[in-house]
Amino acid sequence: MGNEMRIVTKDSKDQYIFTDVVEVEGQKTIILDITNLDTIRSIVKEHDVNVIVNCAAWTNVDGAEAPEKYELVELLNAKAPENLAIAMKEVGGLLVHISTDYVFGGDPYNTPCKEDQKGTPTGIYGLTKLHGEQNIQKSGADYLIFRTAWLYSEFGKNFVKTMLNLTATKPQLKVVFDQVGTPTYAYDLAKAIFDIIENRKYTGNTGIYHYSNEGVCSWYDFTKMIAEYSGQTECDIQPCHSDEFPSPVKRPAYSVLDKTKVKETFVVSVPYWTDSLKKCINNLSKL
Ligand SMILES: NC(=O)c1ccc[n+]([C@@H]2O[C@H](COP(=O)([O-])OP(=O)(O)OC[C@H]3O[C@@H](n4cnc5c(N)ncnc54)[C@H](OP(=O)(O)O)[C@@H]3O)[C@@H](O)[C@H]2O)c1
Repeated sequence: MGNEMRIVTKDSKDQYIFTDVVEVEGQKTIILDITNLDTIRSIVKEHDVNVIVNCAAWTNVDGAEAPEKYELVELLNAKAPENLAIAMKEVGGLLVHISTDYVFGGDPYNTPCKEDQKGTPTGIYGLTKLHGEQNIQKSGADYLIFRTAWLYSEFGKNFVKTMLNLTATKPQLKVVFDQVGTPTYAYDLAKAIFDIIENRKYTGNTGIYHYSNEGVCSWYDFTKMIAEYSGQTECDIQPCHSDEFPSPVKRPAYSVLDKTKVKETFVVSVPYWTDSLKKCINNLSKL
């Protein structure tokens, strides 16, 4: 997500700086550990920052379940966003924060989740991300929280890149069909966030918003389209149930996000998931 923000903000009329906890190869990076409030404050002061877009988090869903990791996961997903919100509150700035569909999942439902639906996380990742949202809301800072789902891009490790590799190298593959949601091209979310900041659409619109691509599919459908768009016709892809892939976390069976609010408030573009998938695979084929 952070890498996509770098791309979409390239020609901004605003000045963006990029931070990470470690040096990013080939990219200008200011080192910042967002668990440290004093360091955040000094960077905000030094660069006169008035908007922060937080793309950092603990994102290893299964790894978050290890009891010895709890403190660290809570620190990154709940305390660090609070730090960023405090720093923005102190200068009258805005925190834009990314959250997740994993704040839902505990209750069975089959209609798209709205922003005010009660959080019912089923695992530590979702629980700590929900704590992060609550801490930001309590901070008194202006904030935009974007809950998204099934993020992928040309960068880092993600489902699309894994499946491109597996469908190219395995004769047969089983993928779950009993979990449905909507994939989100990180570029589309970054573009929407950039549009909101660049055009100051955030004024008076503090709150939680849902943003994924349009449409609904299962991981099985997603994989079938990844194979089709990349021309991998040899691999036999079969649907299976989630219990064939035991995991320490119960994943939401239905986590489609209702995007009415983000579209009505900000009039941002929300492309259909297959259109965006095609673009990402096309970009990956050029690398
Ligand atoms: N991936 C998904 O499917 C998905 C779905 C819904 C929502 N989200 C949310 O979307 C956001 C972006 O996700 P992503 O997939 O782009 O995450 P990602 O690839 O895991 O990137 C997270 C980044 O945070 C950095 N980081 C870790 N600890 C830090 C610290 N103490 N200070 C500063 N930076 C630190 C990481 O650095 P290192 O790499 O050096 O550790 C990494 O660059 C997250 O909030 C995530 O919860 C993701």
